[in-house]
Amino acid sequence: MKFFVDTADVGEIRELADTGLLDGVTTNPSLVAKTGRDFFEVVAEICQVVEGPVSAEVAATEFDAMLAEGRKLAGIADNIAVKVPLTRAGLKTCKALTGDGVKVNVTLCFSANQAILAAKAGATFISPFIGRLDDIAMDGMQLIEDICDIYVNYPSFTTEVLVASIRSPKDILEAARIGADVATIPPNVLWSLFNHPLTDNGLAAFLADWEKTGQSIL
Ligand code: E4P
Repeated sequence: MKFFVDTADVGEIRELADTGLLDGVTTNPSLVAKTGRDFFEVVAEICQVVEGPVSAEVAATEFDAMLAEGRKLAGIADNIAVKVPLTRAGLKTCKALTGDGVKVNVTLCFSANQAILAAKAGATFISPFIGRLDDIAMDGMQLIEDICDIYVNYPSFTTEVLVASIRSPKDILEAARIGADVATIPPNVLWSLFNHPLTDNGLAAFLADWEKTGQSIL
């Protein structure tokens, strides 16, 4: 399973990239606004920090403008994945951009039928938002299961299932069990995956016993 981080904060991205376990980054207009920085500047910087795909979202809603924006964003770096919303114009833009050889992440997916459309449009990634479905008392993880089950029936679909709107480590575990390709994870949730109190206690005990031996490895 690939791990992307869902943030536009370059400091946080650098720290996570340093673990060697980060495969990509997703941003959205809300995350960019949170940084208070220039969109192009921040996205270009992120593309230098990580080698994997960096999603940058268009702001236009009409096809012509969306395509022009997508092409401009794709010009920032080779690892850009242009993010388009799951609308008619978004899917048309997806098809045109993938035809240009550009990676496309189709975002704001809330149904399996929408995911089928994105795969038919040649999306590189489909982003079902599980947390936002859970927020309205629907079952986000059921959507991931449905999409994975459907995609496997059609070997011509190359779209990767990118689980988005993740709220907790449990979401990642369940998505991994289902076999989703990618999880885009908020930084605090990603860091929390490293932690277990028994690891901390066990390490403290080993180090205390090692100290008693009076030996050193180097
Ligand atoms: C994914 O690409 C989105 O940026 C993100 O996962 C949205 O998550 P939210 O529902 O927590 O805003």
